[in-house]
Amino acid sequence: MATCYLGLGSNVGNKKKNILLAVKYLQKSKGIKVEKVSRLYESSPCGCPAGSPDFLNGAAKIRTSLAPLALLKELKNIERCLGRKKAKRFFPRPIDIDILFYANKKVNLPNLKIPHPRLKMRDFVLTPLKEISPGIIKKIASEVKTIKDIPSMRAFLAHARKNMSIGFVPTMGYLHDGHISLIRQAKKENDVCVVSVFVNPLQFGPKEDFKKYPRDLERDSIKAQSAGCDVIFVPEERQMYPDSYCTYVNVDKLTGTLCGASRPGHFKGVATVVCKLFNIIQPDVAYFGQKDYQQALVIKAMAKDLNMPLKISIMPTVREADGLAMSSRNSYLNLSERAEAAVLYQSLQQARKNIFSGEKSSKAIIGDIRKAILKKKSAKIDYIAVADADTLESRDSVHGKALIALAAWFGKTRLIDNILL
Ligand code: PAJ
Repeated sequence: MATCYLGLGSNVGNKKKNILLAVKYLQKSKGIKVEKVSRLYESSPCGCPAGSPDFLNGAAKIRTSLAPLALLKELKNIERCLGRKKAKRFFPRPIDIDILFYANKKVNLPNLKIPHPRLKMRDFVLTPLKEISPGIIKKIASEVKTIKDIPSMRAFLAHARKNMSIGFVPTMGYLHDGHISLIRQAKKENDVCVVSVFVNPLQFGPKEDFKKYPRDLERDSIKAQSAGCDVIFVPEERQMYPDSYCTYVNVDKLTGTLCGASRPGHFKGVATVVCKLFNIIQPDVAYFGQKDYQQALVIKAMAKDLNMPLKISIMPTVREADGLAMSSRNSYLNLSERAEAAVLYQSLQQARKNIFSGEKSSKAIIGDIRKAILKKKSAKIDYIAVADADTLESRDSVHGKALIALAAWFGKTRLIDNILL
């Protein structure tokens, strides 16, 4: 008998009933013994056509005497019995049963790949799997090299540096597809891809969310690995900022407006930690997201002014299906706040349309965005600004390379977004 893990999902009809029925069918199947079933988790549709209903997902641990292909055949049978018509990927379906692991076997056939090739990218698989088998998650997480101290990180890269290029993605963890896009690009353009995960206390104000910032290193390791990361650097706070610590990087221009005005000291904390990380990793290219546009400009200025020998690459903002910019902080939102937060990007898109139709007055553009956001019950505006995209100086009208940037709270969660024109 082999131990297997299955992923279960449904997004059509009575989803819970479909999954429970699938488990019942599994229990009745010859050669299958169901040992554990996780709770069921809601997740937004991944790769399905726009407007597809949310999924309900779970995972099951089974023991089976069936060989992998025989097991696959049995699972397809169960899917058919539950009304699944064609085995089309990425389409709404009453039931989906995937083989995630089959003992320690590796299978690479056109119709069956084990371990499941996309499981590391998917929260809706990792979360229920962790619930029924924390050990298996630990094991996958350990497949990527993780370094926790600065001398070891330097030593690891010293050799690579001689004849390989190093791409670097600094993060605060709780990785989502925005981070993943940076990691993929770093790996695509370089021989070695380093990702740092460090929730930097220096960039949080005293009343901000440093303590409650989401942290899950196992999940981050699996996701980073699936995107091509070769080594994760997770420095300890005491090594980064020992008691004797007294050096800070202050980028004078660019930091007094927008997020810098609302979060005093924030960019000093960001520039300091990124400068330290650059010194430790010494990358050829470092990757940042446009979502934090001001941050990317501040880092660019720091690298230029301090003659740091590296390239800064800014990548486009990755968004949820309804346009909300992906962010680790989205996990704080409750369901209604999450639905309302989509207004940020919608209002920016509307502004873009109005500008192309001839509206040039910043006051009018900002007024329209303000009105749209304030229609949402949980929303409070921090700032909305039209600025020069290079200097971040405020502009009365839209011309040349302009930035519209905003920050707003939904409940207690502060979110940011921007578009370039
Ligand atoms: P963090 O918020 O984890 O973001 C890490 C990187 O991912 C940043 O460059 C950010 O702009 C990028 N990113 C975040 N959301 C994105 C999205 N939806 N699309 C594309 N890129 C996205 O930014 C920080 O951490 C920290 O300030 C850090 C630079 C690591 C310094 O502590």
